[in-house]
Amino acid sequence: MIQPKIALRLGGYKIFTATPAVGILYEVNGFLSGNVRLRGRDNGSYLYNYLEMLDYHFGPEDNTIEVGSGNIRELYGGLGPAQKCTTVDINPDCKPDIVADGQYLSEIRDNSFKRWRCDPPYNDKTSKGMYKTEFPNFNKLLKTGARVIEPNSLMFLLCSQNYQMCPSNVTRIGFIYISVVPNNETRILNIYVKTRN
Ligand SMILES: C[S@@+](CC[C@H](N)C(=O)[O-])C[C@H]1O[C@@H](n2cnc3c(N)ncnc32)[C@H](O)[C@@H]1O
Repeated sequence: MIQPKIALRLGGYKIFTATPAVGILYEVNGFLSGNVRLRGRDNGSYLYNYLEMLDYHFGPEDNTIEVGSGNIRELYGGLGPAQKCTTVDINPDCKPDIVADGQYLSEIRDNSFKRWRCDPPYNDKTSKGMYKTEFPNFNKLLKTGARVIEPNSLMFLLCSQNYQMCPSNVTRIGFIYISVVPNNETRILNIYVKTRN
C-alpha cells in the first residue's frame, strides 16, 4: 500500500517515519496506523505538510477530486499537491472548479477520478459558525466519493473522528492520529480504498 522505504521490519510490522511529518507510521495485516504531529494553519486550512505527507507515502495522483476544497489553491499558489486536482466546494466564494454539495455531486459521472480527498467541517458548530453551511453527513460524502472514483482508488477523509463506518464497496485501510502543533487539537486521517463499483 505504502511506497517509500521501510525504516524497520519488526515481526509482521513495517515501520516508516512519517516524513515530512514528525512521527511514525506502521503497517500490519494490511492496515496502516500512525501517530504524527503537523503544524496548524489558520481558517481551518490544511495543516502544513499534510498533503506533502500523502504524496510522499502514497505517490501523487493528478486525477484527484478535492471535496471541501476551501482555500487549497491559494495555499499552494496553484502548485504542488494542489496543482492538478479538481476542486469542489459548496461555497462559490472559494472559487472551486465545481460549486457543489460533496454529499451528492450529481453533475459528476461515476468513475471519473482516481483519488478522493475530503476535508469537511469537523462538527456542527464549525459548519454553521465558520462555513455558514449545514454539517455534511460523512457517510454520504464517502458514498458519493466512492461513486465518482474508479475501483482501487484511495480515499482520504480528514476529520476529528475515528470514522470506521463506510459503504459496502469501500474498505477502511488506515487510521492516522494527527496532533496539531501548537494547540494540540486532534485530527484523524481516515484512509479507505474503493473495492468495486
Ligand atoms: C475545513 S474547510 C476545508 C479547508 C481546505 N482543506 C483548505 O485547506 O483550505 C471545509 C470546507 O468544506 C466546505 N463545505 C462544507 N460543506 C460542504 C459540502 N456539503 N460540500 C462541499 N463542500 C462543503 C466549506 O465551504 C469549507 O470550504
